[in-house]
Amino acid sequence: MNTIKNTEMNIIETDFQHFSLSIEDGIAWLCIDVKDEAANVISPDVVSELDRACDEVSKLSSTLGLKGLILFSGKPTGFIAGADVKKFREITDPEEARLFIKAGHAACKKLEDLAIPTLAMVEGFCMGGGLEVALACDYIIVDDAPSTKLSLPEVKLGIHPGFGGTVRSIRRIGVMQAMPMMLTGKNILPRQAAKMGLVDMCVPLRQLKSSAIQTILRKPEKKQAPKSAKLLELGPMRSLVAMQMRKEVASKAKQEHYPAPYALINLWEAHGSNSDEMYAAEAESVLQLGMTDTARNLARVFFLQNRLKALGDKSFFTPKHVHVIGGGVMGGDIAAWCAMQGMKVTIQDISTDALGRVMGRATKGFKRRYRKDKFRIMQAQDNLIPDLHGHGIPTADVIIEAIYENLEAKQSIFKEVETKAKADAIIATNTSSIPLSDIAKVMKKPQRLVGLHFFNPVFKMPLLEIVYTPKKTNVTVIKQAQSFGVHIGKLPLPVKSSPGFLINRILMPYILEGVTAQQEGIPVAVIDKAAVDYGMPMGPLELADTVGLDICLNVGRILADTVGVTLPTSLDSEVEAGKLGKKSGEGFYQWKEGKKQKATKDEWNGDIQQLQNRLIEKLTNESQKCLDEGIVEDADLLDAGVIFGTGFAPFRGGPMNAISESTGD
Ligand code: NAI
Repeated sequence: MNTIKNTEMNIIETDFQHFSLSIEDGIAWLCIDVKDEAANVISPDVVSELDRACDEVSKLSSTLGLKGLILFSGKPTGFIAGADVKKFREITDPEEARLFIKAGHAACKKLEDLAIPTLAMVEGFCMGGGLEVALACDYIIVDDAPSTKLSLPEVKLGIHPGFGGTVRSIRRIGVMQAMPMMLTGKNILPRQAAKMGLVDMCVPLRQLKSSAIQTILRKPEKKQAPKSAKLLELGPMRSLVAMQMRKEVASKAKQEHYPAPYALINLWEAHGSNSDEMYAAEAESVLQLGMTDTARNLARVFFLQNRLKALGDKSFFTPKHVHVIGGGVMGGDIAAWCAMQGMKVTIQDISTDALGRVMGRATKGFKRRYRKDKFRIMQAQDNLIPDLHGHGIPTADVIIEAIYENLEAKQSIFKEVETKAKADAIIATNTSSIPLSDIAKVMKKPQRLVGLHFFNPVFKMPLLEIVYTPKKTNVTVIKQAQSFGVHIGKLPLPVKSSPGFLINRILMPYILEGVTAQQEGIPVAVIDKAAVDYGMPMGPLELADTVGLDICLNVGRILADTVGVTLPTSLDSEVEAGKLGKKSGEGFYQWKEGKKQKATKDEWNGDIQQLQNRLIEKLTNESQKCLDEGIVEDADLLDAGVIFGTGFAPFRGGPMNAISESTGD
């Protein structure tokens, strides 16, 4: 039973664990603050309380005559982060899963059917089930800060919205806006959300509450997709639109690997004109998808990503100033990336031309990332400072060396850096192949040197290998490096210093097996297709061309003993002939303006499955070897590294997971 305590701000007494309800100036304020969680996540308990909270509001409304309901979050982290993936993953009984989905549908319907105006007041992220709940309200008002993000990212977990969000998003913004949002799972920023009608308004934080109250009192017309969008729901048009969407999805993901986007299109094509039917079919479809290996493995990837993030404790180290030595391909991009993360960056190079190129490329990168946001572009530009003579070294918190791959040159840098750097600064190298202990030999305190191995292209690759020498590298330095990784938005993975570290070592046998197969006469396009069909983002030969055949040859030589391979002779001859891959315009493929040209021959009579096994086994076997040698701590970290460092088929949950699934362990 509820009782009203005071007149201005009446707190309603309930037995809720995750919600609290109060009444202020005739409006019910429902605060979601999920117990024992840093962020609001939706579990069966939360759904059941939301349902009961709606009953409570309904009762209060009929006794007190409420003007409306405002739903908001009590967490500083955001509105609602979506379903509780951990709890959802624990549900293995299909009947239990069905009950959860049905309960979610019922609670959202109850919220939607309340007789008073309802509004979601959103500050921070509003994702998945959180946005579905917001969509069940009459109005959505959001804070206009860039930290506010809205999305329906379920497809990334191998499912699609399952609390009625497929119907409500299409009803609100039309199929041509709602479907791409659900098919890609992309974040929508506040201004864009307001422009597309997903939210009613985006306002500065200080006006959020007053705008919410005004909206409840004024009761403007509810947002709805324009009539023209409704035309697309008519039978024949619907089939055409669905066909086009299927084609677009097929260019990015195969149905047998990623069934969710196809199921979503089928759902709309079959029931798009009938909401009741679509609600029911949505629940069934999401249940089916939830049981697939893809959904299970994508949930695994989600946890692996969180595990990597958790390896870096942000409070352990506070980097403000990064100094990068060497402004080439890697150093330039590392500097630009750190400047974008809000750090002051000094970039040092012996060549003024190189520094000029860094600034030009960085500005292009900022503009691509921030589009028309001139303020943020300017901010990132201001953070990046050319520093021909290395004046930044004594004040930097992190010093990253990224000059060319040469032991003596790197040693002479560190000899000097060590004498000038602050006592607690991170001193790091981006070397891709030189053992850390060889470089550190010349240092007075070799235990200070750590590897920060970034991947190319820096803007796109999420993984950062934190390379250390066991029993030598200072443990605090390793922890600082992990913390730095998270500060700059990368996923840090501690890796033992040994040839190729983790990622290059695992990729090399895969690349070399591709080259060997090509040398045996199997067409280039057939080899790459076999790997892509498995789910690799790129075949071994396209990857070799992209990395550069000279670099492959060099890394191959360094790794030949460790990996136990003989280098295919064709790699040597290609490099000798000046065919270096993408950068020279010719390698295994022809390249024009950075684009791969179609290979002429793509037919072969051999056993494709056998070819695929042969390529992938090289990669999985090397993964097993790395694990046995303790290059990373455990199988999950190995899978995480390979997924985020190579793009290895996420729906397979990583190479070690794929091995255990194929052997049934
Ligand atoms: P790069 O050849 O593009 O750039 C090297 C830069 O260092 C040049 O601008 C050069 O002028 C400058 N430099 C040379 N000596 C210097 C000195 N004493 N002081 C200051 N600047 C100096 O090389 P890239 O590709 O950027 O590689 C740099 C490092 O990163 C290497 O250790 C490489 O193994 C590693 N790496 C490279 C990757 C790639 O894909 N290119 C990927 C990951 C690591």
